[in-house]
Amino acid sequence: MLSGKLALVTGGGSGIGRAVCQVMAREGARVVAADLNEASAKETAALLASAEHVGVPLDVTSEESVAAVVRGVRDRYGAPADCVVNCAGITADSMLKDMSVETFMRVVDVNLKGTFLVTKLTSNAMIEAKVGGSIVNIASIVGKGGNIGQGNYAASKAGVEGFTRTAAKELGRKGIRCNAILPGFIDTPMVAAVPEKVMKLLVPLIVLGRPGRPEEVAELAAFLASDRASYMTGASVEVTGGYGI
Ligand code: CAA
Repeated sequence: MLSGKLALVTGGGSGIGRAVCQVMAREGARVVAADLNEASAKETAALLASAEHVGVPLDVTSEESVAAVVRGVRDRYGAPADCVVNCAGITADSMLKDMSVETFMRVVDVNLKGTFLVTKLTSNAMIEAKVGGSIVNIASIVGKGGNIGQGNYAASKAGVEGFTRTAAKELGRKGIRCNAILPGFIDTPMVAAVPEKVMKLLVPLIVLGRPGRPEEVAELAAFLASDRASYMTGASVEVTGGYGI
């Protein structure tokens, strides 16, 4: 389904990002796992067990760092990534009354500015090389419904959705599709940090009665990245187990 494709996955060192790398490699793509934590990115690449996959350091909040990765991909593979999955994201949960400007901006910086920078520089590279491509942005169901203690995260993820639709409109004429995935509560280090008393309140709101598995989101990311989704752009697709419906 993805043979011949070259994928760049941000946040590829853990959680949903690592699962996306695994599913995309299984489907035949060459994968560049990029993460702030270089060791975890390299660990992901090692799990994929072929020298055609690599793990590289990437700070999505730094334009220089993103540009270096985009250059590095072109130098190594002789072409730009034509499948990009923006998974890099953080939480810094706190009630509104306690949330500092620093805490608000830190989350917006990684989740929203990071998605903007990676989308901008990777799509520029696709356009320059005259290749089409697919960009998948991991937003969140929290961007739609809000969530207690997540004012910063909800704002950043709602921003990712609006940004994705704009990128879809601008880039469609260049053969580049851009879609968003809205995961619900997925078994990742991020969700493991939610206090048990809060999880006890959240899980009953999930129709399927359990948090999701990272690969259950990764399957959709691989589909959206592939040519099988050739008529999909500007979409926001929920993978929530029916959370909150
Ligand atoms: N629903 C209902 N009640 C909630 C609630 C929720 N989602 N979250 C918190 N509350 C309640 C608490 O139970 C508590 O009630 P009591 O006073 O009756 O005990 C009250 O609100 C205050 O909560 P805390 O005692 O926890 O307050 P705190 O200031 O110590 O901590 C917090 C606040 C840091 C936000 C903490 O509640 C927390 O970490 N909540 C989890 C936030 C969360 O859901 N994060 C999701 C991360 S996963 C993710 O983001 C991925 C994704 O895309 C979905």
